[in-house]
Amino acid sequence: MDKLLIEGGAVLRGEVAISGAKNAALPILCAALLSAEPLELSNVPELNDIATMLRLLEEMGVKIQRDGHRVTLDASQISNPVASYERVKTMRASILVLGPLVARCGEARVSLPGGCAIGARPVDQHIKGLQAMGAEVTVEQGYVHAKANRLKGARICTDMVTVTGTENLMLAACLAAGETIIENAAREPEIVDLANCLVAMGARISGAGTDTIRIQGVERLHGAQHRVMPDRIETGTYLCAAAVTGGTVRLTDTSVAYLDAVVDKLLDAGCEITMERDAIRLQAPARLKAVSLRTAPYPAFPTDMQAQFMAMNCVADGVATIRETIFENRFMHVNELLRLGANIQIEGNNAVVRGVERLQGATVMATDLRASASLIVAGLVAQGETLIDRIYHLDRGYEKIEDKLHALGARVRRVR
Ligand code: EPZ
Repeated sequence: MDKLLIEGGAVLRGEVAISGAKNAALPILCAALLSAEPLELSNVPELNDIATMLRLLEEMGVKIQRDGHRVTLDASQISNPVASYERVKTMRASILVLGPLVARCGEARVSLPGGCAIGARPVDQHIKGLQAMGAEVTVEQGYVHAKANRLKGARICTDMVTVTGTENLMLAACLAAGETIIENAAREPEIVDLANCLVAMGARISGAGTDTIRIQGVERLHGAQHRVMPDRIETGTYLCAAAVTGGTVRLTDTSVAYLDAVVDKLLDAGCEITMERDAIRLQAPARLKAVSLRTAPYPAFPTDMQAQFMAMNCVADGVATIRETIFENRFMHVNELLRLGANIQIEGNNAVVRGVERLQGATVMATDLRASASLIVAGLVAQGETLIDRIYHLDRGYEKIEDKLHALGARVRRVR
């Protein structure tokens, strides 16, 4: 089991390039299922979750060619519209094959994704939406089994804002008969990126990025080329790493268009931020000011940045209140931060963080992807060495993380 060893105290300086967005690439890979012609993608990040999705698609009969960040998918023959438990249990986002498989093949069997460290993660809204479009859906032996000769357009209003729920239904609606209207839709930039790719394939979609998305079903989609958008959460994570060390960094191949809520909080914490067309520069103060935050669906503060900001607040000047409103158990990083000497009290879905002068390095354990990132942020500024165990979580969502941290001057290395 790999571990990451960090020696705290380095001030991060320099420049790194941001990779393509994991949470845009995953649904976009599934979009390939909707067409018999090749989908050519670029800027696809080299991550374990991406590799898992590609293996899943191959098991269905999709032919995959991969060359670094370029991936070509040929779904002309889908021989096996099934996503097995073995595959799905390692990555919940596998549920994103359900909608496109039913739309393209008329049938799909997808294992229910288990819960994960941050919550139960049900998919009832995905199922409800497909049923509204006329799919016959049964759930038995832990599998969702959905069938439909041809989906038909429907008006769907999800009970809560769900990112992959919105994506699954948008994917399914592309080949349905008639118009589908998704209300209470998630507005995340990754959904806009997916819609842009689908439109390039011939889909008829309007309203992506707003809370009402309209999809006019078509008979078939054709091949296309698409470049995956930059990863806004990776961008935010490196901004936090630089900010907590009092550093100055420039992140390239990224866009700040989607990080307003995060940038606002970094400005409140005392950072100076310069935005360029496809780059962002951050200059941190000697010591950050504590910033309170409340997670909520886009464009509000993203839940995927909550853990990283908590780590920053551990050594900031003042007291911060962090409220997590999206997932019921997304404070798994708190116990690990306490091991580093942080002062955090949890009250329900609120955490009160009192900044301390200094954290002390220790051995800690990663529990989920973004919790792992928060332990890196804390380890960079803790006195002495921090050893982070179970960093396979990290490898799911951060491409070449120790190389990029190295390039910024961090004293970090992977130990087997
Ligand atoms: C997506 O997860 C992201 N994953 C998550 O990123 C992100 O944290 C999350 O959206 C919120 O922004 C991908 O895009 C692959 P939701 P998703 O459906 O779609 C409840 C990361 O670190 N809900 O928007 O699974 C759900 O339990 C990951 O990259 C239902 O109750 O999240 C949660 O409380 C972690 N029923 C809330 O809605 C449903 O059918 C929002 O979940 C669907 C969701």
